[in-house]
Amino acid sequence: MMIIQYLLIAFLSFITVYGTQWPIPYERVTSRPTNNPYCQAGLITFCPTGKTEDAMVYAEDDDDIIEIFALKKPVWSFKFGDLMAKFKVMHDALGFRSQKTGLNWTMEWYELDQLFNCTFPHVLRDDSFIWCNQGALCVYEGIVDSLWNGTSDLSMLKKVGQTSGKNYNAWASWAVNDNNTGVYYETWSVYSDNGPNATIYFDSYDCASFVIRGLNQLYRYGAEILPNIHLNYTRINLYAYEPQLLGTYNQIIQNKTLHKDFINFYREFDSKKPTTEDWIKSLLEIYETFFISRRFYLYFNNVYWYMRLKETTPLKITFYEIPIGSILKNEII
Ligand SMILES: *[C@@H]1O[C@H](CO)[C@@H](O)[C@H](O)[C@H]1NC(C)=O
Ligand SMILES: *[C@@H]1O[C@H](CO)[C@@H](O)[C@H](O)[C@H]1NC(C)=O
Ligand SMILES: *[C@@H]1O[C@H](CO)[C@@H](O)[C@H](O)[C@H]1NC(C)=O
Ligand SMILES: *[C@@H]1O[C@H](CO)[C@@H](O)[C@H](O)[C@H]1NC(C)=O
Ligand SMILES: *[C@@H]1O[C@H](CO)[C@@H](O)[C@H](O)[C@H]1NC(C)=O
Ligand SMILES: *[C@@H]1O[C@H](CO)[C@@H](O)[C@H](O)[C@H]1NC(C)=O
Ligand SMILES: *[C@@H]1O[C@H](CO)[C@@H](O)[C@H](O)[C@H]1NC(C)=O
Repeated sequence: MMIIQYLLIAFLSFITVYGTQWPIPYERVTSRPTNNPYCQAGLITFCPTGKTEDAMVYAEDDDDIIEIFALKKPVWSFKFGDLMAKFKVMHDALGFRSQKTGLNWTMEWYELDQLFNCTFPHVLRDDSFIWCNQGALCVYEGIVDSLWNGTSDLSMLKKVGQTSGKNYNAWASWAVNDNNTGVYYETWSVYSDNGPNATIYFDSYDCASFVIRGLNQLYRYGAEILPNIHLNYTRINLYAYEPQLLGTYNQIIQNKTLHKDFINFYREFDSKKPTTEDWIKSLLEIYETFFISRRFYLYFNNVYWYMRLKETTPLKITFYEIPIGSILKNEII
């Protein structure tokens, strides 16, 4: 804990002296902390069909051929069917199949306690916060074709490549380590504007980021990727003026004016979280808030940033292509 504080202070002083290098790299941990018992998944539990320990599926034979599938379905399709596909809000995952055994399996990285809990904290009566913002990799046997190959034209169950059992197993060990060290879900991608030359301030860390990093990493471990594979991914973007670092919660409470606005901001969102299953209504209310208040307090790597959002487009959901094998600048492998 002490060491983390020293590092944080060093990091904050570095930023003050040298200015900020964008995007801010996503910080990894040495091991996954236990989830706060306050945090409970309401609607769907995390990984109900997967094993809790030694969940990774390995190839039995180095000479096996493991086929790789890209999987895509609308978010919350269990509740809304294809509705979210109209807004291009898609959930991404990877599938694998052993040519030797014919067995297949699925890998999905997603929230332990649901998207809203990862996006906004719980504000308690005494103004303290609880974040339920962990995400993790769920691996389970089988690919349920009907789940992915749905009726929406953005749904997908498509072979994108293949690799040897040996390469796959090396990658699978990487994925286990990735799961133990990249533990916090980040909903937002933050850009300076929505043009092609925008500065990216913060990158999201969600189901799609796992698929992007996973495919890039498979490629680096020697997987063959089929030609003409085009994969688009959902991003929830904020467009902002240059973010200002505020620091930790304890630093923020030292400034009364700042603290008041900060708490109001998060209380407003917390109050709009769906308590029943009224997701769409909550989403619309939250959307309106962006166009009115145009300020945002972003939580990233355990510190808070203040951002003034752009006037014309403060928020937009995009579904753009990211090619396999492209090296994302801020990616930490
Ligand atoms: C969010 O977290 C709270 C507190 O743990 C829990 O009661 C609620 O069910 C969670 N929401 C969803 C949609 O899972
Ligand atoms: C990833 O971490 C979660 C949370 O600890 C755990 O439940 C899951 O089994 C892990 N997945 C793998 C493939 O190890
Ligand atoms: C995965 O295996 C299940 C069970 O054998 C089968 O029904 C399904 O079609 C397979 N899907 C793929 C993409 O291989
Ligand atoms: C997906 O569905 C389409 C249309 O129903 C079908 O033609 C295709 O074979 C399915 N693909 C897989 C991998 O099951
Ligand atoms: C983006 O940058 C390129 C290369 O510097 C430039 O040619 C182009 O005009 C810029 N586009 C916009 C919209 O600013
Ligand atoms: C306190 O926060 C407010 C609002 O962000 C800011 O305008 C003010 O300069 C801060 N005061 C100090 C002493 O840092
Ligand atoms: C996929 O992304 C490309 C470019 O990034 C875009 O031109 C295309 O319209 C996108 N496809 C869909 C279905 O949105």
